Amino acid sequence: MTDLPIHPLSAEHKMLRDAARDFAQKEIAPIAAEFDESGEFPHATIRKMGGLGFMGIEVPEQYGGAEMDALAYVLALEEISKVDASHGVIMSVNNSLYCHGILQFGTEEQKKKFITPVASGEAIGAYSLTEPQSGSDAGEMRSRAVRDGDSYVLNGRKSWVTSGPVADYFVVFMMTDPVKKQKGITAFLVDGKTKGLVRGRKEPKLGIRASATSELVFEDCRIPAENRLGEEGEGFKIAMTVLDAGRIGIAAQALGIAEAAYEATREYAGQREAFGQPIGAFQGTGFKIADMKTRIEASRLLIYNAALAKENSKTTGRRYTLEASMAKLYASETAMFVAHQAVQIHGGVGYSRELPIERYFRDAKITEIYEGTSEIQRLVISRSELGIK
Ligand code: CAA
Repeated sequence: MTDLPIHPLSAEHKMLRDAARDFAQKEIAPIAAEFDESGEFPHATIRKMGGLGFMGIEVPEQYGGAEMDALAYVLALEEISKVDASHGVIMSVNNSLYCHGILQFGTEEQKKKFITPVASGEAIGAYSLTEPQSGSDAGEMRSRAVRDGDSYVLNGRKSWVTSGPVADYFVVFMMTDPVKKQKGITAFLVDGKTKGLVRGRKEPKLGIRASATSELVFEDCRIPAENRLGEEGEGFKIAMTVLDAGRIGIAAQALGIAEAAYEATREYAGQREAFGQPIGAFQGTGFKIADMKTRIEASRLLIYNAALAKENSKTTGRRYTLEASMAKLYASETAMFVAHQAVQIHGGVGYSRELPIERYFRDAKITEIYEGTSEIQRLVISRSELGIK
C-alpha cells in the first residue's frame, strides 16, 4: 500500500493501520474460512476489536471510543476487511450507521446510554431503514410509530438488518405521519430486549456469511419517548446523512476485499507457469494486473478524499454526499472487477474452496448492493452534478 503524497499519513494513522493489520492476521485470518462456512457470528473477535478501539474509532473517549479521525477509520477498516469482509461490515455498521448517527443527532443522555457500550465493543449496534417493499425507495416505508403519552408504540416489519440477530441496540426509522410521506419519518433508538421486538429469520447469504442479517418485526413495541432521535419528521434526513458516513465505510470494506484478491493474484501470476513461462508474462494477464492495480489505487484516493471531506464536515457542517457516493460506487465496482479477474486468473483453484479467492468473489458482490446500490450512487452523483432535485 502506498502513502498518499497529498495527504501523508500521520504516525498515529500508521500505528492504527499496523495494529489493525496485525490483529487481522493473527486473530481473524485463522478463523475466517471456518466462520464463512458455518455462518456463525464471530462474537469473540468482535469483542477483542472493541477492546482495541476499532468499534468506535471516531467516537470521543468520554463515550468509550478511540477519538481518532475519519481517515484513521477507513485505514483500520480496510485492513480488517482485507482479511475478512464479514468482520469489516460488522465494524462498519457499528461505527458509521450506528455510533456516527447518534453522535451527530443524539442528546447527551442518548450518547452516554446508547453509544458507550457499543463504541467500546461490549455491545453491538445496528441500523434499520429498509422494509420488504422499500429498499432503494427508502422513503416509502410502512412501519408506524404512534405517540402514546410518554411512549411511542412501534409496529411494522424491517428487513436486511446487518447484525439484526445479535445487536443489542438499534437505530430504527418509522413513519409517524404518513400524510407527510418522507417528512413524516422519525428516527428512534431501540433496546434489543424491548418487548414486542422480534428478530426474524436469519438471511441465508451468498457472501459475508459470518455477518448476521435478519428481519425485525415490531409488534406493539413500546419505547420511551426520550428514545426519539432528533425531532419528529427529521428521520429521512437523519437516515440519509448517516448513510453518507456509512457509504465511506463500505467503500473501505470494498477496497480491503479488492486488495486481498489482487495481492493473491499478483503472486499467483508470477509463479504459475503455462506454455513455458509465468502466466503474468502473457500480455493478456499482465494487462489485467495493470487494470486491477490502477483501479485499486484510484479507489483509495476517492476513499481518502471522502474521509477527509467527512472530517472537514465535523467543523464546517458541509455535506460530503457526493464524495461518499463516488468512493462507494467506484470502490465497490472495483472490488467486483478485481475479484472476478482474480478467479479467472487463478482458474480452477480460484473456483475451489481450498483458497479464499472464491470467498472474495462472493463477498465483493454485496458492496455494490447495500447502503445504496450502484444505481442509487449514480443517481445521487448525477443529480448533484446536474443540479436536479
Ligand atoms: N444528507 C442530508 N439530506 C439529504 C441527503 C443527504 N445525503 N439526501 C437527501 N437529503 C434530503 C434532501 O435534501 C431532501 O430534503 P428537502 O425535502 O428538505 O429538500 C430530502 O432528503 C429528500 O431527498 P430526495 O428528494 O433526494 O429523496 P428521494 O426520495 O429522491 O431519495 C435517494 C433519494 C438518494 C434515492 C435515497 O432514497 C437513497 O439513498 N436510497 C437508497 C437507500 C439506501 O441506501 N438503503 C440502504 C439501507 S442500509 C443497508 O443497506 C442495510 C445495512 O444494515 C448495511
